[in-house]
Amino acid sequence: MKTLRFSNYEELSAYAANEIVQSIKEKPTLTLCLASGHTPLRTAELLVKQLLDEKVDYSRISFFGLDEWVGLPPENEGSCFYFFKTKLFEPLQLPPSQYHLLNAMAEDLDAECKKMDALIDDKGGIDVMLVGIGMNGHIGFNEPGTPFNKFCHIAELDDTTKTVGQKYFKEQTALHQGITIGLGHLMNAKKVFLKADGKRKAEVIQKTVEGDITESFPASIMQQHANGFVIVDEEAASLLTK
Ligand code: F6R
Repeated sequence: MKTLRFSNYEELSAYAANEIVQSIKEKPTLTLCLASGHTPLRTAELLVKQLLDEKVDYSRISFFGLDEWVGLPPENEGSCFYFFKTKLFEPLQLPPSQYHLLNAMAEDLDAECKKMDALIDDKGGIDVMLVGIGMNGHIGFNEPGTPFNKFCHIAELDDTTKTVGQKYFKEQTALHQGITIGLGHLMNAKKVFLKADGKRKAEVIQKTVEGDITESFPASIMQQHANGFVIVDEEAASLLTK
């Protein structure tokens, strides 16, 4: 794992967008997995801009959404689906055949997980992953205590996730479970970027980079990834000692 620092959210976001663009240029059939939320927002905007400006051929990439709130319909503006639809799929005119999201409304959620595991395997695994980090160290909905070798699964949400997650919704929303791509897929991914910005992420970034590697702090798994990059702005890096 390497840690890369940038002066602010904009530079950090531009770096991540450019890394993805270059990866698509190198491998036009790239499999890409992204988180939603605040962290990837500017990267998604810059990614769209750069792909369109440079007329990059992204017609053969496969996109995977990292996670979703169980029970939330895709039209809910706080859903991960809504984020991807408005920030990526629509601006890029990406056809449904090129994106794969976990259906959090599925009657059989376990089958939904198995389907996603099989699809990822079918595509030869994930090439590039861009994830964020929660205030409890989660990645996707891999909550504290999740085994590092788990693949797609249903997660009981931690209290921190339920509370912090309200920021995505206009009204108070009952959040109980998440459906998520697991850390097993992250460890198998060819390249992983864990992105974080702002002072509020400084403590979790310090633990991610310098703390013990433990399932009780999921993001610490990054230390074990041979091609893992923790990419941070100055504020998020402010508690790092090395
Ligand atoms: C969202 C996701 C979450 C977030 C994390 C940080 O798809 O996977 O793990 O990445 O909770 O959220 P933000 O980026 O909003 O601070």
